[in-house]
Amino acid sequence: MSGVDIVQVPLGARSYEVRIGPGLVDRAGAEIAPLLKRPKVWVVSEDTVAGLHLDALRAGLGAAGVEAEALILPPGEATKSWPHLIRVVEWLLSERVERRDIVVAFGGGVIGDLAGFAAAILRRGVRFVQIPTSLLAQVDSSVGGKTGINTEHGKNLVGAFHQPSLVLADIGVLGTLTERDFLAGYGEVQKYGLLGDAEFFGWLERNGPALAAGDMALRAEAVRRSVQMKADIVERDETEQGDRALLNLGHTFCHALEAATGYSGRLLHGEGVAIGCALAFELSARMNLCSQEDPSRVRAHLADMNAKRDLSDIPGELPDADGLLDLMAQDKKVVDGKLRFILARGIGEAFVTADVPRDVVRGVLVDALRDR
Ligand code: GLY
Repeated sequence: MSGVDIVQVPLGARSYEVRIGPGLVDRAGAEIAPLLKRPKVWVVSEDTVAGLHLDALRAGLGAAGVEAEALILPPGEATKSWPHLIRVVEWLLSERVERRDIVVAFGGGVIGDLAGFAAAILRRGVRFVQIPTSLLAQVDSSVGGKTGINTEHGKNLVGAFHQPSLVLADIGVLGTLTERDFLAGYGEVQKYGLLGDAEFFGWLERNGPALAAGDMALRAEAVRRSVQMKADIVERDETEQGDRALLNLGHTFCHALEAATGYSGRLLHGEGVAIGCALAFELSARMNLCSQEDPSRVRAHLADMNAKRDLSDIPGELPDADGLLDLMAQDKKVVDGKLRFILARGIGEAFVTADVPRDVVRGVLVDALRDR
């Protein structure tokens, strides 16, 4: 099909395609119909996305004779919680959704993670399709099968690996994102270059500003390359026994900052990832793993993009360095009580290690907080 790129996620019986391009919401019925045993889907979405795009999705499904029921939840990270999980599961049960049916997650990462987890536990697993509407969800959370919710103990601590049956990444819908949301998603895009592809990072340095300004072809290329990198990593390590942890570059810092800001609008996840990547490179440089220029290059690119890059870009108070270190201790990457970090030997050369002295991390945080 013209204008649509396809990335395969090859996982044996759980393999699926990520289709990337404009107009996929309008064609959703034709794209999804081959998966259906009866011409109906159950859509989980949220107010903002539904207001902008649900009519188009219904029309796109209807054009192929597919009926849609929809549950619309409040927007925001607080929706990724026990009460809303119960609401989604009970709604799907009240709708008599069967194992052979398809649930559609239509929204950003919050909706994808929540609806995917509901699908994972409903009747011990029903299939679902991701239609990610944020840049963050298109390049990261909709691909790879991580689903789940947050609890008062931290982010994503309850969940399941449940791969979608199809992902439709409609580049056109990115045009309705606020600049802040788009740039937050970009935090995950630049992460891919930083973790494993220096050439892609160079491409982003050259093309990032035009891409942010709205160039659709560049946006599609950035999403395709990001998804291809993620698919390659997920194929090697679906359940994060090894390499998949590389995708968490910047996330140990990010999760602590998100907890410190109460998962609020003070800091969006992708903003935390961008700041976390800058801190991870700073930590790598202090451990003499990479050159001193690398963290400067990371921050310079984020500055070119007008994206958040320093702790001083987070409004309001933050805990001190010890407080942030305590928040890091709740990270899922803690093994035998030792924090695992993703560090880098240079741009595009990330690796996982538990061999990070607490004092060096503390020093990075003390200095970063002092610069606020
Ligand atoms: N977002 C990280 C992963 O999917 O593994």
